[in-house]
Amino acid sequence: MIKLDGNENPYGCSPKVQRALAGYPFYHIYPDPEQREVRRVLEGYVGVGAEHIVAGSGSDELIDLVLRLFLEPGDEVINFVPTFGMYPFSTEVCGGKVVSVLRDKAYAIDIAKAKDAVGEKTKVIFIASPNNPTGNTTPEQDILKLVETGRVVVVDEAYYEFSGVSVAPLVPEYENLIVLRSFSKWAGLAGLRIGYGIFPGSMVEHLLSIKQPYNVNLAAQVAVNESMADIEYLQGTVKVIISERERLLKKLKKIKFIKPFPSEANFIFCPVVKGDAQRIHQELRRRGIFVRYFDTPLLRNSLRISVGKPEHSDALIEALNKIGGKGSGK
Ligand SMILES: Cc1ncc(COP(=O)(O)O)c(C=O)c1O
Repeated sequence: MIKLDGNENPYGCSPKVQRALAGYPFYHIYPDPEQREVRRVLEGYVGVGAEHIVAGSGSDELIDLVLRLFLEPGDEVINFVPTFGMYPFSTEVCGGKVVSVLRDKAYAIDIAKAKDAVGEKTKVIFIASPNNPTGNTTPEQDILKLVETGRVVVVDEAYYEFSGVSVAPLVPEYENLIVLRSFSKWAGLAGLRIGYGIFPGSMVEHLLSIKQPYNVNLAAQVAVNESMADIEYLQGTVKVIISERERLLKKLKKIKFIKPFPSEANFIFCPVVKGDAQRIHQELRRRGIFVRYFDTPLLRNSLRISVGKPEHSDALIEALNKIGGKGSGK
């Protein structure tokens, strides 16, 4: 099986994580509700003080926590579509209203349109950068124009390590800028559920007081410590994935029935321009290759392919060439 549908790290976590998890002696003790050790370790990596950091059970949990903190029923959340599905999901669970602002043809955010969408009830604006599933980042000057609106702007940098572009150092300068990060993608810890956010100092106390006390389990904390102790190994696999992304993009560009987009993340978005994406998706599945299929009003007839190991790319390309762009398409 070749799994290219979850934007996971095909090299897994650091071997040091595996060893430390097996030998850790204190799983019978509850974790620290204030996450002191994990926040201190992250401080060194992020370069922003621990007093700005809160960890969560994946960045998914932090999306939910931010919305719980700021939304009252009927409040609005701006979302630049197409984008990651958890923003509307958690907004609706929290009783908020999603205001969708369409990205342009290159999937960039139209700042004028975004500002027009900001109303009295707007509480939070989400920007995934790099965006999932399109893979592009939003420039810092555009993010700052949205910060100027005074609304809480959440920049979701779940794929930061693959883009190298971040606004995290700016967080302490603003009262309304948040950056979310994840250990799921670059550090190979998707299954352990660990992410973190960088927040204005004034928000941290409130977030710590509304989160579940033991939201970050001890295994995840051990894994963060060991990942940081083996950062060179992890940065090495990130480098390998980035160079594989560029190799895969070149190969995908040669396939006539798809139109792959350049990516700053660990996946490549591929609208199918000739033929039926669903059929291609199923044919790949039959060959044991799993990619993500979209057919929504904004993402018609498209695939998203996670970057795997070189042998995964080769198998994928061979399969795509065999399958061909037959079928009517939609
Ligand atoms: C843009 C974006 N944000 C957040 C997440 C969730 O990450 P985590 O595993 O840390 O909850 C994902 C996962 O696919 C994502 O694509």
